[in-house]
Amino acid sequence: MLVLGVETSCDDTAAAVLLDGRTVLANLVSSQDGVHGPYGGVVPELASRQHVRHILPILDGALKKAAVTLNELDGIAVTRGPGLVGSLLVGLSVVKGISFRWKIPYVGINHLEAHLLAIFLEREVVFPYVALLASGGHTLLYLVSAFGDYLYLGGTRDDAAGEAYDKVAKMMGLGYPGGKVIDQLAHTGNPRAVSFPRSRMKKGFFDFSFSGLKTAVWHYLKARGENRWEAHKSDIAASFQEAVVDMLVAPTMRAARELGVSRIVLAGGVAANSRLRERMLEQAQEEGMEVYFPSPALCTDNGAMIALCGHHWLKRGRRDGFRLNADADLTL
Ligand code: KG4
Ligand code: ZN
Repeated sequence: MLVLGVETSCDDTAAAVLLDGRTVLANLVSSQDGVHGPYGGVVPELASRQHVRHILPILDGALKKAAVTLNELDGIAVTRGPGLVGSLLVGLSVVKGISFRWKIPYVGINHLEAHLLAIFLEREVVFPYVALLASGGHTLLYLVSAFGDYLYLGGTRDDAAGEAYDKVAKMMGLGYPGGKVIDQLAHTGNPRAVSFPRSRMKKGFFDFSFSGLKTAVWHYLKARGENRWEAHKSDIAASFQEAVVDMLVAPTMRAARELGVSRIVLAGGVAANSRLRERMLEQAQEEGMEVYFPSPALCTDNGAMIALCGHHWLKRGRRDGFRLNADADLTL
């Protein structure tokens, strides 16, 4: 089965072609980082306009790279939520148009479900597993028992982990998005140089909270003034990152332990973080668990994970009609 996957939920215009749910023939992403960078975060109106500009060249590019024509496709999968409504509408409208004109079935995909399953593009993982989805918009913990069977375990009570990275990077003048820059800067810093606070949830909750940490970094920087922290910014980056990683690892491991699940899957942009990967591996090894994470390009938003999810739904006979709408607050 040949499936085209289209993703425009936030600030990446992405398209991929997937063969038989396994072989990625093309996976292209047009990033808008340069457009949103000066604002330190995604500007929704600018994002939609960029999607309009890039969607057709990206679709064309993906089909050319995969050496397939629209006629050969068995189906199209497109993100229908959650995300920015203007951004979602661009992908969904274009896919509906192609589906109608070329008589190709299409399905609307939940972006969160696609992240949770992205690992299958590279590895076979035995169900059940605990999945930590940490990105710029979400920090969620699910028990994944089968395809289509997702149990919500917990989520962030304020900022998403990636959002905390992006906001701290903005405070430190490191540019947008901040995750990758802080990750790199932290390599040369001491994670114990500054003792930033860690939020902890009551027993029985697998939730997260990053706003206290973000505020602590802000106070730390403000109390010193730029000329006094600039010289040890890698220590600040490493200390902040260590706190984020502590707060991601603890509830994830606790959930796996309490549910008696021995496999953990990381997903979302923050899953590309080198320290998170390292710490998860260490901790899991100590406790006899297995940790899986997709390669960085499949952690961040991409069309391949949408195509994969679409492959499963199309195989089960699902077809969406033209009344399907984008849903900015779609849940799983
Ligand atoms: O999944 P994604 O591409 O988009 C959303 O759905 O949000 O995730 C983007 C987020 C951004 O906040 C970015 O700063 C963060 O993932 N990120 C990272 C790293 N690479 C991307 N955070 C920490 N370490 C990284 N290496
Ligand atoms: Zn995402």
